[in-house]
This record gives sequence, C-alpha cells and structure tokens, in this order.
Amino acid sequence: MTITADDRRAVTAHPIAGVLADRWSPRSFDSTAELTDQQLTTLLEAARWAPSAANFQPRRFIAARRGTAEFHAIVGMLAEGNQPWAVRASALVIGIAVTADSDGKPYRWAEYDLGQSLAHLSVQAHTEGLHVHQIGGFDPIAVAQHFELDDSLVPVSVTAIGSIADVSELDERYQAREVAGRERASLDDLVLVFA
Ligand SMILES: Cc1cc2nc3c(=O)[nH]c(=O)nc-3n(C[C@H](O)[C@H](O)[C@H](O)COP(=O)(O)O)c2cc1C
Repeated sequence: MTITADDRRAVTAHPIAGVLADRWSPRSFDSTAELTDQQLTTLLEAARWAPSAANFQPRRFIAARRGTAEFHAIVGMLAEGNQPWAVRASALVIGIAVTADSDGKPYRWAEYDLGQSLAHLSVQAHTEGLHVHQIGGFDPIAVAQHFELDDSLVPVSVTAIGSIADVSELDERYQAREVAGRERASLDDLVLVFA
C-alpha cells in the first residue's frame, strides 16, 4: 500500500496552507530513488534563505547522498531505531548550529535559527514532491569527531530526504506507525494568551 497525501493530510481545526497540511514525516523511503545535484542544491538554497536573528545565519550543513562514504558514516551514527529506515533515504543532511561568534561570544539563537532553516528546507522538499523526516536520535559527539567540527559547531539534527515507497517495503516494526493518525495538541493547550 502506497500512502498518498490524502491519507496523511493533517485534519486541521482551521484552514492552513496545503503544503503545511500535507507535510509529514515518513519512514518508508524509496531506497532506489536518487536526488540530483540540482534537487539537493534547491533544498539547501531554501534553507539558506530562512531568516535569522541579525542575519547572523548560524547554521551549517553536511549533505550526503546515499551511496557515498559520508552517507554511510552518518547512518552509523544514528540511534539504532533510526538506522533501518533512514538508510533508505536519498540523502541525509546534518544540521549544525554555530553556537558562538568569531570572538567566542555565545550565540543565543543558534538552534532556533538552524531549526527555522530546516523548516524551510522541509517545506521546499514537499513542494518538490519529496519527503523529509527529521531526526534527533543520533550521536552528535561522533558526528563532530568524524567531520572534525570546531567546538562552536554543534550538530543538532539529521534530516532524511527522499521519495515515498510502498509501506510493505518498510521494516515491519515501523509499518503501523507509518499509517497511524497524525495528532497535535489543541490550540487551547498551545496558546497561553490570545488577546
Ligand atoms: C528535532 C526533531 C527530532 C526528531 N527525532 C526523531 C527521531 O529521532 N526518530 C524519529 O523516528 N522521528 C523523529 N522526529 C520526527 C517526529 O517524531 C515527527 O515530526 C512527529 O512525530 C510529527 O509527525 P509528522 O512530522 O509526520 O507530523 C523528529 C522530529 C524533529 C523535528
């Protein structure tokens, strides 16, 4: 069974932009689908144009496509539960926060600004017919060592990007989650003040 956008579309309490309702995080990536240079560059360009405090742009990316040594290394640094499905993605992008400026002064909005850029990337991906699944379960210390990152460069997330495959191709232990309903807390729970 291939999952369609209709199956996964958010049931929103109020109308929102289609791309935001349709975006979801699959695990059933097509392990034969490849990303072209242009596709991957377009996604990174979307991330580049995200806003950031004082336009400091405290984000860096390591982008690796399936079949490369870098991709293989990143898969090995994911939490055990993320490896079986993330290995099927067309590309993995490590999101890195620049946590201090060149004088060593801590940069307070680094993770916020990085996250915003990856939100842009994910929306761009869905606009291009691709899917994204962000991952926090990985070993940031291993990543920093492997890619020889300075202390101010902190790996925060890994973003799996690819195309959807039939759910039956996914490791059985993930199949139920792949078709489960999508839920969110209510706006009443989220909005503390609405004046
Ligand atoms: C920062 C971050 C870290 C995440 N880490 C993981 C992870 O380690 N493993 C995983 O399977 N999903 C992970 N997710 C995906 C979330 O579980 C998913 O976005 C959430 O359940 C909502 O589902 P949806 O994106 O399909 O609406 C992560 C998402 C984000 C934004």
